[in-house]
Amino acid sequence: MDGGLGALRERVQAAQRIVVLTGAGMSAESGIPTFRDTLTGLWSRFDPMQLASEAGFRAHPQRVWNWYAERRLGVRAAQPNPGHLALGGFAQRHPGRLTVVTQNVDDLHQRAGNPDTIRLHGDILEDRWLDPCPRRCGSACDTKGAAPGEPPRCRDCSNLVRPGVVWFGEDLPLGALSAAEAAADRAELMLVVGTSGAVWPAAGLAARARRAGAWVAIVNPDETEIDGDAHQLVRGTAARVLPGLLSDATA
Ligand code: APR
Repeated sequence: MDGGLGALRERVQAAQRIVVLTGAGMSAESGIPTFRDTLTGLWSRFDPMQLASEAGFRAHPQRVWNWYAERRLGVRAAQPNPGHLALGGFAQRHPGRLTVVTQNVDDLHQRAGNPDTIRLHGDILEDRWLDPCPRRCGSACDTKGAAPGEPPRCRDCSNLVRPGVVWFGEDLPLGALSAAEAAADRAELMLVVGTSGAVWPAAGLAARARRAGAWVAIVNPDETEIDGDAHQLVRGTAARVLPGLLSDATA
């Protein structure tokens, strides 16, 4: 391995508390489009405020619901790539040494062997009610019989079902953010994989880990907005770099 990767591998082997912050690039080699990559990114084809916001959903529930339904199909069809499998394999071989914090809403880390992945932006496969139930139907809210393609709506109180993801302008799940911050504060090593560093507070976790004394390495084929927070930049993709970085074999 070249000097940079060889030295980083030694850090992985020595570290007892490793945090891996991932973004959409982690799942790119599983066929799930990123958001900001110019040619393939979702935001180059769709307006995020129209599709990934509560206002956008309230204005056009069916359009947004269909967009998420299409993305859900893609997530269900996708398979963990060698990068996910390298992280899951390491976590299985070395319980308690590696924590994954993801901005991704797919379930590929969990399927690859990191069941306790900290999810900052929710879960695209989960449904939630749009409003607190006005008639207190609560769990009795009944969406059976929703027309295909229509966002499911409670037949009694007409509450809409929305995807269980964090939309622009919404707070992150409090437990997830505090768990991610606590992991960054304890980390000896942080790997930042496949994120542009464009969205806060997730993007601030690299600088937070560095302030707490962690060695921070970014794995990304391109520049990111948080390259300045890293000690080391590894220009490569998740599926190509992580297997060698996380294997136990002595190089
Ligand atoms: N391996 C590693 N990195 C990759 C790969 C790959 N195979 N392919 C692309 N990348 C990098 C790109 O260079 C880019 O830096 O992944 C990054 C993807 O950036 P974004 O599309 O901005 O995705 P992300 O950083 O996860 O976005 C953060 O923004 O839209 C919101 O909620 C959404 O969670 C998302 C958040």
